Amino acid sequence: MKKESLLPPESYLLEPGLLDRVGMILKERGFRGKAALVSDERVFSLYGPQVLTALRRADFSVSVFVFPPGERSKNLETYGKILEQLAADQLERSHPLLALGGGVSGDLGGFAAASYRRGMPLIQLPTSLLAMADSCWGGKCGVDLKAGKNLAGAFYPPVLVLADPDCLRTLPPEEIQNGLGEIIKCGLLGDPLIFDLLEKANPDQLPTELILRALLVKDKLVREDPLEKGPRQLLNLGHSLGHAMEFLSGYTLAHGQAVAAGMAVISRSACARGLLPEADLLRLLKLLKKYKLPQECGFSAGVILPLMTADKKVRDGRLNLVVPEALGVCRLIPVPIPQVKEWLNAGGVL
Ligand SMILES: NC(=O)c1ccc[n+]([C@@H]2O[C@H](COP(=O)([O-])OP(=O)(O)OC[C@H]3O[C@@H](n4cnc5c(N)ncnc54)[C@H](O)[C@@H]3O)[C@@H](O)[C@H]2O)c1
Repeated sequence: MKKESLLPPESYLLEPGLLDRVGMILKERGFRGKAALVSDERVFSLYGPQVLTALRRADFSVSVFVFPPGERSKNLETYGKILEQLAADQLERSHPLLALGGGVSGDLGGFAAASYRRGMPLIQLPTSLLAMADSCWGGKCGVDLKAGKNLAGAFYPPVLVLADPDCLRTLPPEEIQNGLGEIIKCGLLGDPLIFDLLEKANPDQLPTELILRALLVKDKLVREDPLEKGPRQLLNLGHSLGHAMEFLSGYTLAHGQAVAAGMAVISRSACARGLLPEADLLRLLKLLKKYKLPQECGFSAGVILPLMTADKKVRDGRLNLVVPEALGVCRLIPVPIPQVKEWLNAGGVL
């Protein structure tokens, strides 16, 4: 685990038992008095009492906001309720907001922290694989609008992430797969060793090194380009199609699963255009199969296209597609909107 030291240890910790130490760690970092805790019902029922005990032992009084689990809660209504509760409980700008849960808690809690009194310190307590390996890091937060996913949000990095891998024991298998979608994405983007590790791994005993490796790929791009004006856009590999699929499924399709299908489509398309060697495409598809991740879009190009081309990633009439050129190497290609359909068709979306 040599790589661990490369992530700033003052802001990202990955250790078993961290949830029991949340209160003391916050106190050591100078926080006092009140804290807010945002979580979904499912995660709160599993880990809420443990976190509350740890916080109370360190003399924090806690304002708890719990919402129904799932993407459908990641909306303006829930966000507004969190803000109203923060105000009703008289949280101040210096009090921390703790987001306990998966990417939905992190994105919702993060956006509330970013905007309540123009910003209170955000602490991420990720409990899903996806949140530990991806969404807790990099500062993106926000909510979905009726028009599409993540359409309102902010860049607001957490001051601290405490990731306790013990939480993964209660994570259902489909949520492990969901996280693996983003981890494989990071492998394809910048770390072929992720492929080696996953090819050898027993799916029931995944090494935590995968989490750190995926985060390092993300961290490098985020540092280079915190506001996603250039290379950070590479992290959107598989996302233009993935977001459209999630939206069309009414958010019954999990994010990591949609990203996996998006990656498979763009990789097939890149291979058909001679940009990605066939051997690399086959390794990707084999890995997706091993971890039971989807490889097909399941919607027609006619249905998908209007959503993809309305995406916030469209600039000057071009959609920036992230195109794999080898395992660990991807490139941004601005594709004029009228040509996006050809890319979809070549990837098997007809
Ligand atoms: N901000 C970012 O950079 C970023 C990056 C990737 C994804 N995201 C967002 O993250 C969200 C997806 O994240 P997610 O897949 O974690 O979704 P999620 O938060 O809905 O969690 C998935 C499910 O797992 C449950 N769960 C979480 N931890 C658990 C545990 N330890 N034990 C048992 N159950 C547990 C939750 O209750 C939920 O039902 C999407 O909204 C996506 O847009 C954000």
